[in-house]
Amino acid sequence: MTSSAPPSRPPRAELHVHLEGTLEPELAFELAARNGVRLPYDGPDALRAAYDFADLGSFLELYTANMAVLRTAADFADLTRAYLRRAARAGVRHAEITVDPQAHLARGVPLEDVVDGVAEVLARSEPDHGISTLLVAAFHRDEPAAGALEVLDRLLAMDAPIVGIGLDNAETGYPPGLFTDLYARAEAAGLRRTAHAGEEGPASNVRDALDLLHAERIDHGIAVVQDPDLLARVAAEQVPFTVCPVSNVRLRAVPSLAEHPLPAMMAAGMLVSVHSDDPPYFDAYVDDVDDAVTAAFGHTRDQRAALAAASFRGSFLPPDRAAAHL
Ligand code: ADE
Ligand code: ZN
Repeated sequence: MTSSAPPSRPPRAELHVHLEGTLEPELAFELAARNGVRLPYDGPDALRAAYDFADLGSFLELYTANMAVLRTAADFADLTRAYLRRAARAGVRHAEITVDPQAHLARGVPLEDVVDGVAEVLARSEPDHGISTLLVAAFHRDEPAAGALEVLDRLLAMDAPIVGIGLDNAETGYPPGLFTDLYARAEAAGLRRTAHAGEEGPASNVRDALDLLHAERIDHGIAVVQDPDLLARVAAEQVPFTVCPVSNVRLRAVPSLAEHPLPAMMAAGMLVSVHSDDPPYFDAYVDDVDDAVTAAFGHTRDQRAALAAASFRGSFLPPDRAAAHL
């Protein structure tokens, strides 16, 4: 999607974006050349042409393979900077960026290099890009929980500048209950808690993320509409849901935008906002997602403003700083 900036675009927060999922094919090839890594494509256009996914699993395979180009702290800094530049053009004023430390540790990249490279750029995000930022460390739900706990302990020991933790990767077969110790440790350490749930999995994963993990926010969560009691509860409790409609279509969790449950979630009175997930992989940064949602559902200016306001309300900013954006 190409992005022009309509004058009426309200300021917004981006709460659901994976740093590794912001890797543009051009940057992937630049980093590959810098690091002597071979990508099995003729160039950026050929790589981009491969972004046709059958499901979450086929996306995760290619997304993980592309991470091979990320080797040094400078690579993580360049990736973060490139994302913030594009996010600023999308009207993003506050971004909560997820990074997956296990994906890099598995390739032998030191944890310090990942954290230092990202943190160096985030520390200057306001003066350099006009965007306040918070960093979330997400853990792979399809890997053993003991490994996640070990990485969290290392992040805490090094005083990594993270606001909270998340849970991502394959959902089917990996229910939230596997990660109760991880989330309890995070909560005891004063970290905020979000979790992917109900993306490709059932509504019970949303309930378990809330009840067993004490998640304060749910990423995706679209399966909630299948459980009327849970839907009523999350609306009453105003649990923030970071929904990624374009991602859900591109990963075939829903057949089309027109059939996406976003309108049902909004109609139920949920605190729901829309986000990008992995922008270049789905050809949509968050401004493109906003435009696609507006077109698909015929949203009015007020509805657009409500979604933008929800993006700040659902953030991990202190309430007074979130309110300052409204
Ligand atoms: N990691 C990056 N994008 C993801 C998604 N949509 N679901 C789970 N894990 C992810
Ligand atoms: Zn995600």
